[in-house]
Amino acid sequence: ADPDPLQDFCIADLEAQPSINGFPCKPASNVTSDDFFFDGLSKEGSTGNIFRSNVTAANVLAFPGLNTLGLSMNRVDFAPGAINPPHIHPRSTELVLVVKGKLLVGFVTTGFVYHSKVVSAGEIFVIPRGLVHFQKNVGKGKALSFTAFDSQLPGVVILPLTLFGSTPPIPNDVLTKSFQVDEDVVKAIKSKFGN
Ligand code: GLV
Ligand code: MN
Repeated sequence: ADPDPLQDFCIADLEAQPSINGFPCKPASNVTSDDFFFDGLSKEGSTGNIFRSNVTAANVLAFPGLNTLGLSMNRVDFAPGAINPPHIHPRSTELVLVVKGKLLVGFVTTGFVYHSKVVSAGEIFVIPRGLVHFQKNVGKGKALSFTAFDSQLPGVVILPLTLFGSTPPIPNDVLTKSFQVDEDVVKAIKSKFGN
C-alpha cells in the first residue's frame, strides 16, 4: 500500500532526518550488494516473555534497502501455547506463511465478523489491512511463521499494551466503562503491562 518509487532504489540513510514519506537515500556511490541483503530473520527469537512469542521485524528500520520499495517481512517464533496478541497494522495487509507447527490465525472485520483458520506448514492466510488479528500456537511443539507486508513500515498497534500499558496510562474510568468491568479488573490488567 506504500507509494510507488520514482527510481530503482533508495537505500535509507537512517541517520538523516526522515522526510515526509520514508528516509532520504544514501549516496549511490556508497551502495553495495550488501544493502540489498539482510540476515536478521535467520535466527530464532527469544520467547521468554508473557506471551511466549517473539516478532523479529525486517522493516525499513532494520533493513534500510527496503526504503521506497513498499514491502517488508517479519519472523514470528512461538513457544508451545504462545499467543501473538490482538494487534493492527495501520499501513499494511499481512500475508502469514506458516513454516513449522500449527497456528490458529484469526481476524475480525469492521462488521464484527470473526474469520479464522488453523494454518499448517506451507499454508498461507491473508489479513486485510487495518483489521484486528492474532495468532495462537495450537500445535504440540514450537511454531514458526513468516509474515509479508505491502509496506516498508507497517506499524503495529498491540491492543493489550496500547489500552493497558500506555504512558501516561488511560484513566481507569475510561477502561471500566469501555469494558464494563470493575476497577480492580482494570488495575490487575494494567499491572501486567507496567502500569
Ligand atoms: C503477525 O501478525 C505479524 O504482525 O508479524
Ligand atoms: Mn500482524
